Amino acid sequence: MPVAFNDQQMKTVRHLLEHYPRKNAALGDVLHLAQEAFGHLSPEVEEYVAGLMELPVSYVHQVVSFYTLYLRKPVGKYHLMLCDNVSCMICGAGELLEHLRKKLGIEVGGTTADGRFTLWTVECLGACEAAPVIMINDKYYGSLTTRKLDELLDGLE
Ligand code: FES
Repeated sequence: MPVAFNDQQMKTVRHLLEHYPRKNAALGDVLHLAQEAFGHLSPEVEEYVAGLMELPVSYVHQVVSFYTLYLRKPVGKYHLMLCDNVSCMICGAGELLEHLRKKLGIEVGGTTADGRFTLWTVECLGACEAAPVIMINDKYYGSLTTRKLDELLDGLE
């Protein structure tokens, strides 16, 4: 199926482009929209966005590959991003990671066979005061213990 925004998404793109003095300044927002729409930013999506914004594909690719928030491969329905930076590690992120690896039966970077969970470790999520912290899709959860993490995962649809 060809990559293309629907009418509503195109309306959002036009709205975004009107708000920036130069098209490339809107690229981050348009990529975010594309990721929501297509699940991840494949080379086809990069090409589509580049064409839409009249930017070189290489420029779009550089931006996509620089920021970890842009997904270049498909992830599970729930994308678990556990912070493994200093504050979180001091507060137990190592134990949480081990717990998740065993509970889900996958390694970091892996996705469960049912496509439900993908497990990543990430650098500081900027919420050190709530360490240890995990991000699940676009939501943060802090002050975690293995019990709280279990309750959180078991409560997901
Ligand atoms: S070190 Fe984990 S949120 Fe900052």
